[in-house]
Amino acid sequence: MLEVRDLNAFYGQSHILHGINLDLAEGESIALLGRNGAGKSTFLKALLNADPRTEGAMRFGAQTLDTQPTHTRTRLGMSLVPEDRRIFPKLTVAQNIEMGAFAAREEQKPYTIAEVVDLLPMVGPLLNRFGYQLSGGQQQMVAIARGLIARPRLLMLDEPAEGLAPVIVDELSDTINAIRKAEGRSIVVTEQNIDFARQTTDRLYLLDVGSVVFSGTWEEFSRNADLVDRYLVL
Ligand SMILES: Nc1ncnc2c1ncn2[C@@H]1O[C@H](COP(=O)(O)OP(=O)(O)O)[C@@H](O)[C@H]1O
Ligand SMILES: [Mg+2]
Repeated sequence: MLEVRDLNAFYGQSHILHGINLDLAEGESIALLGRNGAGKSTFLKALLNADPRTEGAMRFGAQTLDTQPTHTRTRLGMSLVPEDRRIFPKLTVAQNIEMGAFAAREEQKPYTIAEVVDLLPMVGPLLNRFGYQLSGGQQQMVAIARGLIARPRLLMLDEPAEGLAPVIVDELSDTINAIRKAEGRSIVVTEQNIDFARQTTDRLYLLDVGSVVFSGTWEEFSRNADLVDRYLVL
């Protein structure tokens, strides 16, 4: 459902991503691992035409992605839960989540808030709170709910576990696994937390300085112990 061929991305004169090839099937969940600055967020933004300039070929479902602006790509069913979560502090949780419904595809009604709460039960008790009243873990759950309400075909989670306490990270991985089971939704999770990524995805790509240095199953990754030392340990 997603096909990326020889993708290069640039910020001004800086060449950030170098010839990325990546495939994602419908219903599949993949991790994009790499240390800080490896290019994970740039890759997600490149898919959405959100910031960097890109060269290369991308296909999403039946569509060739070339000049479509970000809002058109979201309407095609791509949804990003950004690294910094971007919860509106003065809106309620329900209002924050509803903001995501504007991105719904024309042929697809968004979920209702009640349906979102079925998928993410922990946001239920939070609906009337204001954004500024949420803990980091709650903000992450609300950001996922907002990313999900439009029923995206591709949900992209940018370092969702970052900065969260271990017990919250466990809850988050249960949440993502529940979402994975629902319908034929594809998921990309970028992470530096290897255990979390392993628990929530089928296989992985490893990025270093803007290039894919490994792709394969978690089992293959485990058999190459040096990958962690070379590309992930700081
Ligand atoms: N808006 C920007 N302008 C210029 N350089 C950027 C910008 N955003 C990120 N970069 C650079 O691109 C590289 C990759 O960054 P990023 O994709 O954020 O990495 P990651 O998400 O893996 O931590 C880094 O060297 C970073 O400094
Ligand atoms: Mg990042």
